[in-house]
Amino acid sequence: MSSPGNIQKRIEALRDEIRYHNYRYHTLDDIEIPDAEYDRLMRELQAMEKEHPDLVTPDSPTQRVGAEPSSTLQTVRHRLPMLSLENVFADDDLREFHARVAEKLEFEDGAPKLVYAAEPKLDGAAVSLIYENGRLILGATRGDGTTGEDITHNVRTIDSIPLRLIGEGFPETLEVRGEVFMPRAGFEAYNKKAREAGEKTFVNPRNAAAGSLRQLDPKLTAERPLDMYAYSVGLVEGGELPDRHSEIIAALREWGLKTCPESAVVEGVDGCLDYYSDIGRRRDSLDYDIDGVVYKVDSLAMQRELGFVSRAPRWAIAHKFPAQEELTTVEDVEFQVGRTGALTPVARLAPVFVGGVTVSNATLHNIDELHRKDVRVGDTVIVRRAGDVIPEVVSVVERRRPEGTTRVKLPALCPVCESHVKREEGEAVARCTGGLYCKAQRAEALKHFVSRRALDIEGLGAKLIEQLVAEDRVSDPSDLFQLSIEELSSRERMGDKSAENLVRAIEASKSTTLARFLYALGIREVGEATAAGLANYFGSLPAILAASEEELTKVPDVGPVVATRVRTFFEEAHNREVIESLQDLGVHWSDTEPMKIAEDGPLSGKTFVITGTLPSMTRKHDPGRSKGPDSACRGQSNRQRF
Ligand code: IVH
Repeated sequence: MSSPGNIQKRIEALRDEIRYHNYRYHTLDDIEIPDAEYDRLMRELQAMEKEHPDLVTPDSPTQRVGAEPSSTLQTVRHRLPMLSLENVFADDDLREFHARVAEKLEFEDGAPKLVYAAEPKLDGAAVSLIYENGRLILGATRGDGTTGEDITHNVRTIDSIPLRLIGEGFPETLEVRGEVFMPRAGFEAYNKKAREAGEKTFVNPRNAAAGSLRQLDPKLTAERPLDMYAYSVGLVEGGELPDRHSEIIAALREWGLKTCPESAVVEGVDGCLDYYSDIGRRRDSLDYDIDGVVYKVDSLAMQRELGFVSRAPRWAIAHKFPAQEELTTVEDVEFQVGRTGALTPVARLAPVFVGGVTVSNATLHNIDELHRKDVRVGDTVIVRRAGDVIPEVVSVVERRRPEGTTRVKLPALCPVCESHVKREEGEAVARCTGGLYCKAQRAEALKHFVSRRALDIEGLGAKLIEQLVAEDRVSDPSDLFQLSIEELSSRERMGDKSAENLVRAIEASKSTTLARFLYALGIREVGEATAAGLANYFGSLPAILAASEEELTKVPDVGPVVATRVRTFFEEAHNREVIESLQDLGVHWSDTEPMKIAEDGPLSGKTFVITGTLPSMTRKHDPGRSKGPDSACRGQSNRQRF
């Protein structure tokens, strides 16, 4: 039997253990135990607390989620104001800042070795966390710097914010300041889910973080993937802190707070600039948004000497990156056709300088996205260019929409080849059905056409195809069969011998099988097995061309989606023309007996003996014994068992 004292002890031990693993996971990023074990500890603690509700304390690791929603957020007056930072963009302005610092500190040599703490300027929401004797008692937003809002119930749900500090030496009252942010991966995942559920998405991770913090119901905040990096302290009472900023950050880390792993100490303005370029280069690969760098004079004694101007310290400055989001107007919306036939709406923009370059086109991803954002010609939009990512239209400023605009419609015909554009149900992407015919899709379609499992034309590599397409020498597969030795051998890097071999290979490929031919056509979702299934089932191309969708679905492995794809492909007149030309030029195969024989027909139940070899079956495979009818021979040969 456990005595009350033992229970209390076990609960405390579990809490300490869980806190320790939280610290390893969130702060050190170095886990010691597998998730399953962590979950077991948590479950044990939850079970014990459930049994002994009188022993539940607000700082227990189980208490992060589930506090009752407050009806409105209370205001909190910051005992020490939360200041802002002066911004600079240009290197020269940073040099001026440094010169002012050096002068004020009476350095005669320009202070080339003055130590700065350099940190990314995190793009989230500033928070203040008050710890009393190591316990988190208050979380507040920055607000106007003097008065913020009480968000204690929400910060408690953020796993990387310790409810209790660990280690020792922290002051009785410690105000930790830092940035709550939503990591990019979490932001993307959250938005994807919201989009699928038809719910509101966040514009960017910063809004996501700020919005999540101000929820009235902490259960909602708990569902948001938030994180926090501490970057300074505010009120400190009943204890001493180190006298350098970098050492304070290190102490916070030891007490269980998470700090930015990119923080560094640098020397002089050149050290600052090197740091800025380095982090700028790596900005895209960080898992969180940053909008610049913050430099802080590392010595607190010097900070005191420098003091403040109005609401910003003289000892720190934000060196911002060029803005990644700007406003501009939409001059047109066009549709680009990709190599797989996908139509991508693209906004043509009045040129705008964003993310360090001039942008005049921005992707709208797909037709759904275009309609969701409802981007219209004449609209004022926010464009975003983050790093090397293609610029995108973030949203429309609806208040600035001129009169008489109309919604952009998906074109009925491909802007490149005028084949029909189709969009299958449930698919975000609209595609040109021109397949073999569409110039935008030619190179890819041709590479597939000649590939080993299709018409298998050896010596016709991707490079040569791309060149032939670019030169407009080859438009569709039928043009391949008209290439001459003379023409090919006159090409750069193609000798007489290889030209001869290539033409021979092209000639040889004319004799093929219906299955290979169908596969070579590159009908979406018609892979080798499906092509073979179709060939076996129908026996001839005219039979396939004549088949209804319903009939197509009788082919093993062909569901309604594939059946629609097949029909759509053959319904496109351009595709039928290409097939006819290919046959006219001598591409041929032998038709076979169709497999589509009534189940009680004359051949049903009979066994056929196959002679010769099959590419992927040995004699050991005896389908008659091991499997049901028609399961083993599918896709293997023109002959089959029924
Ligand atoms: S220090 C007196 N360090 O930037 C110094 N601020 O304008 C006060 N921020 O909203 C702030 N990353 O939330 C500091 N590494 C960092 C920061 C940072 C982002 C934000 C902060 C505030 C704004 C200051």
